[in-house]
Amino acid sequence: MTSYQTLEVAQDGPLLHVRLNRPDVRNAFNGTVVDELHAAFTAADTDGSRVVVLSGNGKSFSAGADLAWMQEQAALPPEQNQQGAERMARMFLAIARCRKPVVVRVHGHALGGGTGLTAAADVAIATQSCQFGLTEVKLGIVPAVISPFVLQKIGAGRARTLFLTGERFDGVEAQRFGLVHRAVPETELDAAVQHVTGELLSAGPAAVASSKELIRAVAHLTLEDAIPVTSKWIAALRSTPEAREGFAAFLEKRKPSWLAGGSSGGSSGGSGG
Ligand code: COA
Repeated sequence: MTSYQTLEVAQDGPLLHVRLNRPDVRNAFNGTVVDELHAAFTAADTDGSRVVVLSGNGKSFSAGADLAWMQEQAALPPEQNQQGAERMARMFLAIARCRKPVVVRVHGHALGGGTGLTAAADVAIATQSCQFGLTEVKLGIVPAVISPFVLQKIGAGRARTLFLTGERFDGVEAQRFGLVHRAVPETELDAAVQHVTGELLSAGPAAVASSKELIRAVAHLTLEDAIPVTSKWIAALRSTPEAREGFAAFLEKRKPSWLAGGSSGGSSGGSGG
């Protein structure tokens, strides 16, 4: 497995753990982190893992962009400054578009780009007390490259308040805003992450990947325009080997082949055996 300077990446059966590893600066991300996250999530597209879990070592998940690095970037010639910003935007895209489901485990603080990483993931599990915030305006900047990912989760209405005030909010509020799937007491964080990864592992791997693409394909369609897209989608999907196995396993009251190997399943994995 590739070794990284700023990440710890480890395979644990079907799970790929990607841990931000700059605890001294609360996992703030500089250019190296940006490039390494891009590389790790691009590699996850084609490796043997089924679910990626993104977390942070130390006191906090992530304090967002490294402000010393931001300052350095600002001093570069305009073209290089722009290229660095685009690399950062593409890193968020690599996470959001990863072919494997991405679960983010949030503790401590997830400020600025830390909130952005949370929004780029498919499923966010956070502690109730952790602090989120689109705090960029407090620094005289805006949450630009993360804005599309945050808007997809919380909507433009909520963003109008949170981007403009830069106020912090906790995990409980983040759940209410739709940024976080579940907010739990700190002692239950790992169990909650394990529960959701179990649910993801109990689902057909190709169906999970297809679900991510389906959401992208239909999100901006009218109900009418969606019909040819969604009807073709299910017609194609229900005749795949994975779907045939899923149907047969249910009807034969056995586990589907993707669970038969004994991976820890969630509550929705076929009829059990
Ligand atoms: N960029 C660069 N360095 C950062 C950083 C960031 N985004 N966030 C924290 N650090 C550094 C601090 O400067 C400090 O360095 P030092 O030990 O050399 O003094 C170290 O990380 C620890 O930070 P500290 O503030 O002492 O830790 P804390 O646990 O009390 O507070 C935060 C953590 C995240 C609440 C606080 O550091 C913070 O508000 N960071 C800025 C977050 C932010 O505004 N991000 C948006 C970026 S666009």
